[in-house]
Amino acid sequence: MKRFFILLSLGLSVFPLLLAQKSTLTRQGTATQLQVDGQPFLILGGELGNSSATCAADIERIFPKLKRMGLNTVLTPAYWDLTEPIEGVYDFTLTDQVIEQARRNNLRVIFLWFGAWKNSMSCYAPQWFKEDYHKYPRAHTAQGKPLEIASVFSETVFQADNRAFTRWLEHIAEIDKETGTVIMIQIENEIGMLESARDYSAAANKAFQSSVPKALTTYLQKNYRQLHPQMREKWNSLKQRKEGTWQEIFGNDIFTDEIFMAWHYASYVERMAQTARSIYNVPLYVNAAMNSRRRKPGEYPSAGPLAHLIDVWHCAAPSIDLLAPDLYDDGFKNWVAQYHRHNNPLFIPEIRLADNNGVRAFYIFGEHDAMGISPFSIEDGSDAPTTPLVQSYRKLHELIPLLTRHQGKGNMHGLLFDQQDKERILFFDDLTLTCRHNFTLPWDSRATDGSTWPEVGGIILRLAKNEYIVAGNGIVVEFAKTSEKQQETKRQTLGEDGFLQQSSEKTITQQTTHFKGTRCGISSVDEIAVQPNGEFQHIRRLNGDQSHQGRHVRISVGDWKVLHVKLYEYK
Ligand code: DGJ
Repeated sequence: MKRFFILLSLGLSVFPLLLAQKSTLTRQGTATQLQVDGQPFLILGGELGNSSATCAADIERIFPKLKRMGLNTVLTPAYWDLTEPIEGVYDFTLTDQVIEQARRNNLRVIFLWFGAWKNSMSCYAPQWFKEDYHKYPRAHTAQGKPLEIASVFSETVFQADNRAFTRWLEHIAEIDKETGTVIMIQIENEIGMLESARDYSAAANKAFQSSVPKALTTYLQKNYRQLHPQMREKWNSLKQRKEGTWQEIFGNDIFTDEIFMAWHYASYVERMAQTARSIYNVPLYVNAAMNSRRRKPGEYPSAGPLAHLIDVWHCAAPSIDLLAPDLYDDGFKNWVAQYHRHNNPLFIPEIRLADNNGVRAFYIFGEHDAMGISPFSIEDGSDAPTTPLVQSYRKLHELIPLLTRHQGKGNMHGLLFDQQDKERILFFDDLTLTCRHNFTLPWDSRATDGSTWPEVGGIILRLAKNEYIVAGNGIVVEFAKTSEKQQETKRQTLGEDGFLQQSSEKTITQQTTHFKGTRCGISSVDEIAVQPNGEFQHIRRLNGDQSHQGRHVRISVGDWKVLHVKLYEYK
């Protein structure tokens, strides 16, 4: 109510602000979908480099390129230091330019609020904030060294950050409520403690000695079966205690320090999220730097929205819609699996810009009902139409109506292969699908000449019994009745023409007992384009050499295709 009167006194109409919501999250089966203008939307995104939205000329130069690259969304920082250069004086010029350029280039915007923390540090706080360290205190190490990290235990830090965030959001609500160009907001950036797993300032130490909030132990108790295994183990280590200090409940180690910090960072973010909800109610998320390469809390940003802290974050920050991983290290499949949980949809706001971004995008949409992906420093990528990312985004853009219709229904899988991980077996109905890297066929010289196999991938979508979509790059799929596969004894390698490669080699499936049951064959393989209404437009029929005379469905390495496959049965 108080807020209502403040808005009226500022001459702003409260109702359009509160109603400004062109993007929302909805549920379809097991998937959470982002709806933009009432349509399910997949984010084919890219995040700008940190300093690329600080200059109008750069924004004007970059955004048309992003359009040529096939993005539908740009993730753009909003800088506290440039938004409030003088305390209480705001400048929204850059925000306006981003929104204007996005509209001109048919892009949606996800703003990243670089407020009190950016990669742990407080480098985006304005100078007046940084200098007044009495009023805006710093986190300290155990040795008493002050860090360039604002202390999350300071109410004045929150008030300053939240005030700027409020004014900025009110401005966005004013200029964007009709159009809805801004579809999501990230609060802070890669929050977490570095150098030290926790803050040792006086306020932090006091909080560390106080009792663990009841809300957290109740949450752990209620959600016990679904807790992240690491959290369950930690809570079990002292027999699931429900009352006591952080160390009394979780033990005396650096991981307890991390849980404690996660609770406080998440509680701070929750208050920011509530601010956003009351002004511009779009989906909200936070991003995490990964705890990869065996690093310990404080060696990586301790206490960020990491997979093993997902329960603490969910409990303390219920207004945050999703926790998102920034992926720069190895172990892609493992990280994405950890972030796609029943209560956390997968969105990758940052991934290292690389040639495999396109196949990884296919993989996460097929395997994890993902909401989107966004390579970092996207403006450094090429906009040439032959670039893998550009080709991948072009196909995925086409596929949006089809994929979003099938998300959450259990009839899609993603494929991602390299030289080590080159085969996956899938089961649908009474069929076994053997999916492989296309270089498992020795016919491309790069498969055997010592070249490193590129990462390839795609999507398998079951449309109906005996009807599939196979889409992506560099994959080969064989379909067989599961009963037939069970009768297989040996495999032979066939040449591209279907003839036995060498008579003494491993051979095609050899039947030693009397064959029982039916077989399945390929009735047709059509390369298609998917229309915006989801209908299929026929491009060409692929048969003969292109389907190994009906033995498999394949998309060569370097090709990006959507194939409509129909099967039949025979005895
Ligand atoms: C992750 C951060 O979130 C980005 O802002 C950027 O600093 C990249 N790391 C890498 O440079």
